[in-house]
Amino acid sequence: MKLFIDTANIDEIKEAASWGILDGCTTNPSLIAREGRDFAAAVHEICEIVQGPVSAEVVAQDADGMLEEAALLRQIHPHVVIKLPMSHEGLKACRALSDEGTPVNMTLIFSVNQAVLAAKAGAAYVSPFIGRIDDTGQDGIAVLSDIIDVFNTYYFETEVLAASIRHTAHALDAARLGSHVSTMPFKVMKAMAYHPLTDKGNAAFLADWAKVPGDGLIPTVERFLATRQKESA
Ligand code: E4P
Repeated sequence: MKLFIDTANIDEIKEAASWGILDGCTTNPSLIAREGRDFAAAVHEICEIVQGPVSAEVVAQDADGMLEEAALLRQIHPHVVIKLPMSHEGLKACRALSDEGTPVNMTLIFSVNQAVLAAKAGAAYVSPFIGRIDDTGQDGIAVLSDIIDVFNTYYFETEVLAASIRHTAHALDAARLGSHVSTMPFKVMKAMAYHPLTDKGNAAFLADWAKVPGDGLIPTVERFLATRQKESA
């Protein structure tokens, strides 16, 4: 299972990358706008930090325009994956890019049928928007589950990328269902590490450690090792 971060914020990306768990990054025009900086420079900086696929989205709405933008985006950095909006024109561009070996992330997927078409057009990833489906009163995780089932039935090579993840329960459900990738905001990724029993257990271990005779872990171990070295010399 791969974990992508869903942000264009450099500090968040650096922090998540430092944990050694980051497989990729997804951006979209809204996330880029939030950072208030030059688009191409931001994408390049993200690609230098993230040692994996970084989705950068086109804004053209026709296939020719998408292909023109994609050709430029790909020159920013080899990590760039072209994010295309789900549409007939997006499918056309997806097929052309996939045929030339350019990875595509088909975004704004809200149904199994859309995901099937994107896979048939050769997309490397399809991105069902779980949270936004929930927002409409429908069940985003059920749609994700159906997409995964259908893809497994037909051995589609396209990876399912659970997107619009809003909280840790979404992340847990996506993992349980076998989503190939989950992309999530930094705050959700950070929250995945927390458990009150971990904090409680760690506090108890530290309190008990204070009762262990000696002057601390490092001096105690260093003294022990030095003594052993002397004895074996
Ligand atoms: C990821 O590729 C999407 O752009 C993102 O997950 C959308 O999330 P949102 O619905 O929280 O904006």
